Amino acid sequence: MNLSGELKQLLSSEFVSALEIISQKADDFGVRVFIIGGVVRDLLLGKNIYDVDLVVEGNAIEFCKFIEAENCCNIERISPDFGTAKITLKQFKNLSLDFASTRTEKYPKKGHLPVVDKIGCTLLEDIKRRDFSVNALALSINKNDFGLLIDYTDGVKDIEKKELKILHDNSFIDDPTRIIRGLRFAYKLDFKLEKNTQILQKEYLQHFNNNDICYERIKQVVKLAFSLNSTELYNEFINSKIYKLITAAPFLKDGFCIKKAVEKNKKLIPNENIWLVYLSCCINLEDTEKLNLNSKELSIFKELNRLKHNKVKINSNYDIYNQFNNVPMESIVAYLAITQDNSAQIYIDNLMNITPAINGNDLIELGFERGRIIGQVIEKIKEEKINGNIKNKEDEFLLAKKIMSEFYN
Ligand code: CTP
Repeated sequence: MNLSGELKQLLSSEFVSALEIISQKADDFGVRVFIIGGVVRDLLLGKNIYDVDLVVEGNAIEFCKFIEAENCCNIERISPDFGTAKITLKQFKNLSLDFASTRTEKYPKKGHLPVVDKIGCTLLEDIKRRDFSVNALALSINKNDFGLLIDYTDGVKDIEKKELKILHDNSFIDDPTRIIRGLRFAYKLDFKLEKNTQILQKEYLQHFNNNDICYERIKQVVKLAFSLNSTELYNEFINSKIYKLITAAPFLKDGFCIKKAVEKNKKLIPNENIWLVYLSCCINLEDTEKLNLNSKELSIFKELNRLKHNKVKINSNYDIYNQFNNVPMESIVAYLAITQDNSAQIYIDNLMNITPAINGNDLIELGFERGRIIGQVIEKIKEEKINGNIKNKEDEFLLAKKIMSEFYN
């Protein structure tokens, strides 16, 4: 199969020209260069491509140095340990290309970051270390076979069957993040796990040992998965027991309420934080320890925990206001999803932006002395405004005068 037509159709013309330059240079240097991984999958699925991963069968750094010596590119970054390089072509300054060397990997510690075993192996060996057959396709960009598809693992058939198939029985043991990657791809591509992959995933989830998990990596893939803001994905995470990778017992078992709460308040949560709402609806504060969250992320869990456990008696809107004031929006939305407590939505819709129109200078002009009293009066005015007892600036002045007469007499 040759995909040069698809390449020209789904890549920008700049990208195609860049690949043609690389193609010529690959022939000049005498190496085989391929587009690899998810890009080839997406090309076959007819998706537009905005970025390509390239692999050099051999040493990518030496190849990039050759192109640089030919005055064609600038090397932006190299990582000798991984045999990777990032370049920009002089002709297309805004377009960067990532090159990897073909490599084999070893897992000295099960489930943890692999180490490079050999740089410059055959393409086939490089393909074998990958996660799913649909991500193990390569596309030659050498001149004589530009666009030729190389499919060692029946990836094309699996794309047609809409199946995610791991390449060997130890795949999840080596790298359990692939379970969550699989979940994400299944949802994103509308694919299903192939039968044996399903069985191996189930077995892994029944028997794995916590020491064989790198939680730092799990956090990264959970983030990508939950960022899709999908009820179906969350429910599959629960139903297939993938949650066991991060918690013994998930808190919320149905993602419907999470999506509903997120959608209703989407403008208030940055897209990059949506995953935290899902995660905080799923795991407890104690579970966060192993995930190595940063302090901002952790505060979302801490505040949610406080909301869940320190139930305060609510007698007025001001009580609602105080319950949620200064709490991160992600915690409030997660609390709403978990408890369905409408006071959270009342706070968001009606209370959180209420502030007195009157300010400290107004109070001083009225005759208040500088000091703590100013803040106290403003707070009292805010309370009455939140409770709906005063409506406008005039009311606020009347109340301020009333307080002043009581305070100074
Ligand atoms: N890969 C892998 N195992 C992992 C992560 C990545 O084998 N745990 C390989 C796969 O071949 C994958 C490629 O590295 O296709 C690139 O990974 P990544 O950029 O994370 O994913 P893509 O497949 O490109 O998919 P997408 O960009 O849609 O997330």
